[in-house]
Amino acid sequence: MTAQNHNQSLENAYVCRRMPAEIEAALKERFVVKLNESDELTDSATIIERAKGVSVLLVTATERIDGNVLRALSPTLKTVATLSVGYDHIDLATARELGIEVLHTPDVLSDACAEVALMLLLNAARRGYEADRMVRSGQWPGWAPTQLLGKGLVGKRLGIFGMGRIGRAIATRSRAFGMQIHYHNRSQLGPEDAEGAIYHATLESLCRHSEMLLVAAPGSPQLKGTLDQAHIRALPPGAVVANISRGDIVDDDALIEALNNGHVFAAGLDVFANEPNVDPRYRALDNVFLSPHIGSATEETRNAMGWLLIDGIAALRRGERPANLLS
Ligand code: DGY
Repeated sequence: MTAQNHNQSLENAYVCRRMPAEIEAALKERFVVKLNESDELTDSATIIERAKGVSVLLVTATERIDGNVLRALSPTLKTVATLSVGYDHIDLATARELGIEVLHTPDVLSDACAEVALMLLLNAARRGYEADRMVRSGQWPGWAPTQLLGKGLVGKRLGIFGMGRIGRAIATRSRAFGMQIHYHNRSQLGPEDAEGAIYHATLESLCRHSEMLLVAAPGSPQLKGTLDQAHIRALPPGAVVANISRGDIVDDDALIEALNNGHVFAAGLDVFANEPNVDPRYRALDNVFLSPHIGSATEETRNAMGWLLIDGIAALRRGERPANLLS
């Protein structure tokens, strides 16, 4: 087959963000690829314009793939593949209606996300931001018995809101830090998955018991604002809060009030409502450790996520149903 014939037999794909080099190279071998070369964030209208006529759309959580986008790209569009485990940015119901397959990237990122969850928890509890700033600014007066006293993890009750794959990977690591694991989930886990973690049927009950709380629930419009003022006030005084999930699950007014009045000792946040426009009040607080949505950001994980999508598309074209197919 000539190069031209080969290209004619390939599907067209639009790739909304720059991918790791290995993944871009693999995509180019399998599709006629149009890339968002400059990697800027694109709105729905731009995606529709650039992706017109493609059968594969590679997106991430920074693109909103709503009904309008799907309808505008249908019927040529066959597959939307998102480089994320979360799919709250994709209108699955409309995708199903239009017969568009949606793939995501579960499992391969659970360990990386759990590592960042612990990074958030440790930095919040042990005052990582203030510690770094003290040394970096040249303001460290030297060791002192009362300097930067934080909270240890050993023996603390850790509440995990959302005990899916990532929540359980967090639990595994937190047990090694000597924490007691409590959780709230849509349903109670079987003993093998729970590994002794204590189930709470309501988030309110979990909050009342959580000296440290980790939000790991999947992002969804239904969970918006769930960790509200009542839940935050239910936490024991001096609690630590970390969020690895989606920013809009947390009511920012309520969390900032609690961080200001000390009811919450500290927070560690990797996700925010309206990213990348972080609520400026967080930036003014010393007792918040901030991180720019890097849960899955390791080279090996991002490559694994990319391959899961590439292999998933290949499986779909063979008429199979890959495990990462959502609709
Ligand atoms: C995910 O995989 O959902 C991460 O939050 C990155 O978007």
